[in-house]
Amino acid sequence: MKYFNRNLLIEKVKVKNIVKKFSTPTYCYSYKKLKENINNFKKSFNSFSPLVCFSIKSNNNLNLIKEIKKFGFGADVVSIGELMISLKAGIDPKKIVFSGVGKTSEEIKNAIDKKILLINAESKSEIIEIEKIAKSKKKIVNVGIRLNPNIDAKTLKQISTGKKEDKFGVDEKTFLNIVNYASLSKNINLKCLSVHLGSQILDHKPYEKMLKVLDKTIRKSNHNFEFIDLGGGMGISYEKNNKKFNYSKYNNAIKRFLKKHKSNVIFEPGRSIVGNIGYLISKVIYIKKNNKKHFIILDAAMNDFMRPALYGSNHKILPVIKKNILSKNIYEFVGPICESTDKFTTLKKFQKLDEKDLLVICDVGAYGISLSSNYNMRPKPAEILIKGSKIKAIKKRQKLTDLI
Ligand code: LLP
Repeated sequence: MKYFNRNLLIEKVKVKNIVKKFSTPTYCYSYKKLKENINNFKKSFNSFSPLVCFSIKSNNNLNLIKEIKKFGFGADVVSIGELMISLKAGIDPKKIVFSGVGKTSEEIKNAIDKKILLINAESKSEIIEIEKIAKSKKKIVNVGIRLNPNIDAKTLKQISTGKKEDKFGVDEKTFLNIVNYASLSKNINLKCLSVHLGSQILDHKPYEKMLKVLDKTIRKSNHNFEFIDLGGGMGISYEKNNKKFNYSKYNNAIKRFLKKHKSNVIFEPGRSIVGNIGYLISKVIYIKKNNKKHFIILDAAMNDFMRPALYGSNHKILPVIKKNILSKNIYEFVGPICESTDKFTTLKKFQKLDEKDLLVICDVGAYGISLSSNYNMRPKPAEILIKGSKIKAIKKRQKLTDLI
């Protein structure tokens, strides 16, 4: 993001012009950044050519998934809806993995019919259900089992998934029991050990620990896993001083692991691919003064972008037109929704704002539109993709008639 003649640009397009055409609030994605993220991710692990399954839950825009697919990515899905949208985007079923603690029989049947690469099961009951369905269809189904490695990923507690108190995966004892069970089954083929520590992880050390746990568990199981699915979770820098995830150390740890275990690696990244490609453009409706604090009331709200309300996370806000006057007031950026958590951030130093000014909330490409809702009967924003100087509408703004 840079300014040219005081105008904020996304790639070569003035944000001001996007607003003229698409109004606000609007989600906007940069193709250049998407491409950079994908290439960096691939480069970080190129010595063992992993299968990269983009985590659809992080951004489920069909046109964006189509772009991601062109780089050879598969998909990590957690529902029939995500499976269908991945197939519609043209993703090869042999590059799709299905995760989640509560797959219904309908979802399992669908996944089997579509011949996806793996169903990653998260309990013994699920394995038994998959086996039952596979038997009734006279099929052999490829499955994985998700191990809960009981590791603290050192991230927000709401998005940590790899500790024993979390609902995800199975403990080692159950894991080994399922391996034995599967080895006797005629309808399931146990091909994968899967694991996912959590999200927005900035420290590589929990991953190193995780690989040690996998090594130990695989040895005990005495089973050959064709795949190890290491999940996603690699964090991004939302704030200036955030440290960066050390891909090189993670890559080295995986390479050491692969010397002992000849498996194909699968990754399921979401945020690291799309997090920093997205911007939410919004307009100031009113400014309400309350002593030193001024409420900047935006036309974007927690229903459009949930992360600050849900996790207290902070996202950078930038003005669309730069003025060189600093405000003396504290600005609290809020949405119009009837909840006190409908608040994006509080800033002490920001340029002086006026009503109708335009702003951009940054790094909203992951868990932005996919977590949005129609709360307060608010239609979902439009989504557009910028490629150089081209603007492509990739999803229309919802209409009120879609809701009523
Ligand atoms: N694989 C599995 C099994 C997952 O549960 C997730 C995310 C991913 C892959 C992708 O993780 P990523 O690479 O994006 O970190 N809404 C929260 C994040 C929830 C993550 C849920 N699972 C947020 O906005 O921070």
